[in-house]
Amino acid sequence: MKLNGLVLIPFYKPEMILNNKNNYMTNKNNPNLAINGGVPVSVEPILIHKPYLDESDFKAVEAATRSTFVSGDGPACREFEHKLANYIGVKHALYVNSATSALELAFRVKNFPKGSEVIVPNFTYTSTAIAAAYNDLKIVLADVYPDNGSLDVSKLESYITKKTVAIAAVDYGGIPAEMDEILIIAEKYKLYVVHDTAQSIGSVYKGKKVGNIAHVSTFSFHGTKNLTSGEGGALTTNDDAIAERVKILREKGTDKYSFLTDNVTRGYYEYVDIGNSYVQSNILGALGITQLMKLDWMNKRRKEIAERYKKEMGGIEGLDFMRITEGAEHNWHLFGILVPAEEKYWIMDALRAEGVMANVHYTPLHRNKFYSGLTTDEESPGSMEFFSRLLRLPIYPSLTNDEVEKVIVAVKKVFGL
Ligand SMILES: Cc1ncc(COP(=O)(O)O)c(C=O)c1O
Repeated sequence: MKLNGLVLIPFYKPEMILNNKNNYMTNKNNPNLAINGGVPVSVEPILIHKPYLDESDFKAVEAATRSTFVSGDGPACREFEHKLANYIGVKHALYVNSATSALELAFRVKNFPKGSEVIVPNFTYTSTAIAAAYNDLKIVLADVYPDNGSLDVSKLESYITKKTVAIAAVDYGGIPAEMDEILIIAEKYKLYVVHDTAQSIGSVYKGKKVGNIAHVSTFSFHGTKNLTSGEGGALTTNDDAIAERVKILREKGTDKYSFLTDNVTRGYYEYVDIGNSYVQSNILGALGITQLMKLDWMNKRRKEIAERYKKEMGGIEGLDFMRITEGAEHNWHLFGILVPAEEKYWIMDALRAEGVMANVHYTPLHRNKFYSGLTTDEESPGSMEFFSRLLRLPIYPSLTNDEVEKVIVAVKKVFGL
């Protein structure tokens, strides 16, 4: 199996696939397929993601730059935080330089004893887990559902020990995790819940926007996300004590935040705690504001594309969609399809040859050097199955209707239709 000249050796054991579908009709030797020398559906590659930036963004960045307040935590950052908190319906939104920093702060703020355990889904980006490791906490990898990569709540209690202090729940692809069940278990064992909402801005769970559900939530505004400020993140919480300490921790352990807002002129600010430099430039705060103004429109366009894909691809033998959590509204950060495991890389290469830049995403954490040994394939069947079947298709607001149709034609062609 070849991908960009690399030979890929599938490490997945087919006998671990629970719901595999072997009966789909692709003819790999079809000479019309671009992978076999046929004419591609799209000569121009249709990229997997693109940020949506328009004139209002460019003007806001220019105005913030011209204001010369370019350093961190400026007026545009404060305005963005205020508007973000209102949008989510949460008391505090604190803008920082990445979701990774927000996650690190989410654990740092609690001062958990060294070696305390944090339950992290095995299928997530490294940041969810390194945030705990960075705070000298022990990562316990939990299995996820094979049909959407979300924490499998039926297994959650089996990971809890006397040392467990927290659960990190992740909204993979923008699909909210089963937060009600997670919060009930957390309450039972008095655990802290960090909701990694890096991908799910605008998603809703049982009537509430994500970011207002767990003790702390952490968003990403990286260039690939539904709302971008280039790089960036936010920590949201309804807990005043957490918010007050995070304001200090993100600003090098100083009380500069209150120095700037309490109108008490004393000419200096104090170094009151440990901390790091995680505030964001005012220029990026300005971009956050204009992006937030069009977030609902951008998410609506993603939804239109997803609905078109679902209508046209529904019923293709061997292709399933990711399951959306009951009671949740999806922000369509990613559009994932689940394909037969043994054909995944061939399907990806065939789609790419047609001009559709389909992609895989994460490998389960324990399959990576830093996390190896924390669990095994056998102990993580849901994560392994999900990973073995997942491919992502292009979805973003600037994808044209013509490109959407080409993606559909390419998928059908590769699946022999
Ligand atoms: C689930 C998840 N958590 C955390 C992050 C880290 O985000 P950032 O790049 O803003 O640090 C990402 C990034 O893609 C992510 O997908």
